[in-house]
Amino acid sequence: MDIVLSGIRPTGNLHLGNYFGALRNFKKMQHENICYFFIADYHSLTTHPTPKDLQGNVKQALVEYLAAGIDPEVATIYVQSDLPETAELYLFLNMNAYKGELERVTTFKDKARQQPENINAGLLTYPTLMAADILIHRSHKVPVGKDQEQHLEMTRTFARRFNRLYKVDYFPEPVAYNFGQELIKIPGLDGGGKMSKSDDENSAIFLADEPKMIQKKVMRAVTDAGPTEKNSPKPDPIENLFSLMRAVSSPDTVEYFDEKYNNCEIRYGDMKKQLAEDIINYTEPIREKIKELSADDDYIRKVMDMGKEKAHESGAKTVREIREIIGFRP
Ligand code: TYM
Repeated sequence: MDIVLSGIRPTGNLHLGNYFGALRNFKKMQHENICYFFIADYHSLTTHPTPKDLQGNVKQALVEYLAAGIDPEVATIYVQSDLPETAELYLFLNMNAYKGELERVTTFKDKARQQPENINAGLLTYPTLMAADILIHRSHKVPVGKDQEQHLEMTRTFARRFNRLYKVDYFPEPVAYNFGQELIKIPGLDGGGKMSKSDDENSAIFLADEPKMIQKKVMRAVTDAGPTEKNSPKPDPIENLFSLMRAVSSPDTVEYFDEKYNNCEIRYGDMKKQLAEDIINYTEPIREKIKELSADDDYIRKVMDMGKEKAHESGAKTVREIREIIGFRP
């Protein structure tokens, strides 16, 4: 069976982008693979060095992971800092990670632009920590959205380099677990790029959003004056609405509005109304589950403890073997 690992930073509520990029198909996936899901709380320090409510954020991420359909009895769900072996593997990988290749990573360059006052070493070595997360369980597949593609490429580089340097065939070269043909990028509602928690709040739809809020956000989504020529290409904001619709609506619905667009008969108000309704229906069971689980602190604590133990079993074994491969005293 393949080993699958998925991760998320606890820096805000989970949105539809996270869901479709990393969480969709969980229910099925966890029965067909050995699955690890973790909350990247170490990583969050690269951008939020003095977090206000780290444990509250971690709990919220855990609740939303569970609400999205992870069964903690089947899969292992844990918090990154509960597996400190990750930090040891990160140290070993950093010894063979080069400044030049780390500086070339797009997310590093973006973050360095966004927080010029805090270009810390953790930010530079973000891809090594992420590789440690993945390699600590010797994972084969990693469900990620398009934005994480380059990080995964780096993980393969580090895995290959380790195997070559120490003349072993120890780490698999993990690939993206893409559910369709391509890695997914769920757009935001502001007409621009991907849905993200750090942008304008109204651009992201969170799994915990109430129906009224979803309606409000969708109705405000950026559109244009409408096509004037039949079968014309869709500008970004419109293509974005269609992308969202393809994710949550039935193929018939998408086709209906596509035809309207192509015939220059589209009314964006109608399309948005339908899209909002479909998002509300799609997220309804998750929303309900989030409410239920948020109130059950004992259960959440139990899940964390269970995950910690299971993750440790796998992680400690890897670090033990790595130490031996490199040549440390067993
Ligand atoms: P993070 O917390 O930014 O996002 C978590 C997951 O959600 C996906 N995602 C999206 N997918 C499609 N469309 C979007 N608009 C969208 N926005 C976010 C991301 O691709 C990701 O899969 N570096 C990671 C956390 C991490 C990790 C790992 C992930 C740390 N170690 C090891 C996998 C394996 C991150 O910042 O994800």
